[in-house]
Amino acid sequence: MRPVINSWLGPIHVALTLFRLPYSVCSKGACPIKSISTGVSCSAANLGAMSTRLHIKARSPVYPGSDTPRFPVPDDKVSWETEWPEYSPVKYTAPPVAANPVWADRDIGSFSPRFNALDGSTDRRSHEGEYRVHDQRPLNPRGRTGVSGRGLLGKWGPNHAADPIVTRWKMDEAGQRLSNSASKLPILQFVSIQRKDCGEWAIPGGMVDPGELVSLTLQREFSEEALNSLEMPDKAELHERITKLFSSPGLQVYKGYVDDPRNTDNAWMETVAVNFHDDSGDSVSALPLEAGDDAGHVSWIDVDSAQPLYASHSHFLETVAKERHAHW
Ligand code: BGC
Repeated sequence: MRPVINSWLGPIHVALTLFRLPYSVCSKGACPIKSISTGVSCSAANLGAMSTRLHIKARSPVYPGSDTPRFPVPDDKVSWETEWPEYSPVKYTAPPVAANPVWADRDIGSFSPRFNALDGSTDRRSHEGEYRVHDQRPLNPRGRTGVSGRGLLGKWGPNHAADPIVTRWKMDEAGQRLSNSASKLPILQFVSIQRKDCGEWAIPGGMVDPGELVSLTLQREFSEEALNSLEMPDKAELHERITKLFSSPGLQVYKGYVDDPRNTDNAWMETVAVNFHDDSGDSVSALPLEAGDDAGHVSWIDVDSAQPLYASHSHFLETVAKERHAHW
């Protein structure tokens, strides 16, 4: 697939405010985007190019964590605009979701969610603009997936995540930047976790809690997954260092739908990905990495197109590399 950003909004510089305060974003000539918890997202016109792209991981043959095969959806039948009377998606809601944990919605019928709206503390608005609702169920803005219901996702409609991309330059022992021999461009490294659920390397992102500001989710998820903050004895010092990092100007590289293998016709992932870069190598680089929460391992990994990553994460990193004139 093509780079996420070139056809979309263009890089947006983000000024993240201090812990617990909303952040504001200014893009070149586009509307200001506020926190998804409190504000409105950019107009659908801005995101139009993104919504025409075909999702692929969301049509993987077998639904993750199960033996449930998806109803096969060929490329030309993905769009809801294409009539397809034979379409018969497999109904699947994973047992842990169907068991009604606090983080998940209940079945449609036992409650009436307000779609395309802030529904109590649950944000059911999409970054992609207004989505359709058919038969009381929200429809995936990128089209058919071969599975109906919620699968592994808790919310009907958009499930909001945030992805902190923490980067530094790769250095040799003398402190000189290392470049790739073919591209001759300096190599970036980012903090990556190996996810416990699928074993794939990923950005240490996570779900936005109900009512939580994205600026806080970025910091909290990074702390929990890459620094194991939940188990850290001296939390105060760590908290101060991390707050400083996440208060520095970030580069928002993506905001919108994610081609995630857990997506279904009625529930899907969306994210906001923001890059925090340690240009001098003396702030983030000194953080003691320790895998926690949903992470099996954590490590600085070279930013390189050959590195396979979870969901749409390599597209986010491609944008970071290009923006920072680094090797890809
Ligand atoms: C992950 C994020 C990812 C999002 C969409 C979340 O569960 O933590 O890193 O971007 O899903 O795939």
